[in-house]
Amino acid sequence: MFQPSVPEKYVRLSDDELAQRIAACKERLGGRVCILGHHYQRDPVIQFADFTGDSLKLSQQAADQDEAEFIVFCGVHFMAESADILSSDRQTVCLPNIQAGCAMADMADASAVTAALEELAELTDAKVVPITYVNSSAADKAITARADGACCTSSNVRNVFQWALQPAGGGGAGADKILAIPDEHLGRNTAAALGFEEKACAVYDPHLPQGGLSAADVEAATFILWKGYCHVHQVFTVEQVDRVRADRPDIRVIVHSECTREVVAAADASGSTSQIIQAISEAQPGSQWAVGTEANLVNRLAQRHTDRFIRLLSDRPATCWQMGKIDLLHLLWVLDGLVAGEIINPVTVPADIAADARIALQRMLDIKAATGLTQ
Ligand code: 13P
Ligand code: SF4
Repeated sequence: MFQPSVPEKYVRLSDDELAQRIAACKERLGGRVCILGHHYQRDPVIQFADFTGDSLKLSQQAADQDEAEFIVFCGVHFMAESADILSSDRQTVCLPNIQAGCAMADMADASAVTAALEELAELTDAKVVPITYVNSSAADKAITARADGACCTSSNVRNVFQWALQPAGGGGAGADKILAIPDEHLGRNTAAALGFEEKACAVYDPHLPQGGLSAADVEAATFILWKGYCHVHQVFTVEQVDRVRADRPDIRVIVHSECTREVVAAADASGSTSQIIQAISEAQPGSQWAVGTEANLVNRLAQRHTDRFIRLLSDRPATCWQMGKIDLLHLLWVLDGLVAGEIINPVTVPADIAADARIALQRMLDIKAATGLTQ
């Protein structure tokens, strides 16, 4: 994506100067601007967020924002797209660095998703309904709505899968099979959490003809899993789980549902970013935790709860470099622009795509999220 360079005058500023000027811009803009920050953002950025949250909470915040003229999204591109779709027409969403994408979302190109639905329709007469993780393009979300599907996040994915499999007459989508896009691991972990065996899952590889599946493979599967993954959460391994337990036998291992099935099965609990935060925040002083999710969040939890032992599950860093593309420099650039009446890095989803994508997002928001972790 093309992005004009940050002007030279910002590049020379120190972090303190950047922070002071961001605070001054916020002061001047007042209620006209709302800054949303995903939990994986770095501390210097997250300190300026009016609301922090996981993907689900931030989608809801964007939908609930009726006062702010500008929503500045400190997250990645698909999140800013969702905010644009869910906010009102008079609001503008800006992504401070337009190049902050999501490698996993990019693994499910809209044309490949369309082709997959067509191929699956040739392989089976059963009703295949796409359930698309919000970590996806607006175009994927629109395709999902047109095929009777809905979006999900890691907070509500179990409920959305259950909704999809309920008969249409009973308020569900009447799916015989779910096409889970784009995270293979989230799909498999959710199928397991709902009590399905591994043999109920088949993997659709968009790089292979017919996804690498035969009609018999599709017939046997209830969950067809798009072969996509998050490189941040793939860093975690069963060996790391074994190692932290060998060091500290009382430690509890808690991981994000984007981790592999083996890691989730070896852990004590799994869930979304918010569910992990809630579990650790409610834990007893003295409790010990190894956490398998993005490092900025784990470090923040460790700083916030100094009476608990909290470490990253891996010794290797697990940081989302896409989220890291949002920094003080880009945040100041965008806010300074708004003060001067200039909109920098707006994210605008074309109206025809937005109309259908909104249906997929709204179906998700209408389905109540599970509150607990998967134990
Ligand atoms: P949640 O915010 O839903 O926990 O998802 C994590 C993630 O990878 C966001 O990109
Ligand atoms: Fe995408 Fe993974 Fe980064 Fe989330 S953590 S934005 S899924 S690459």
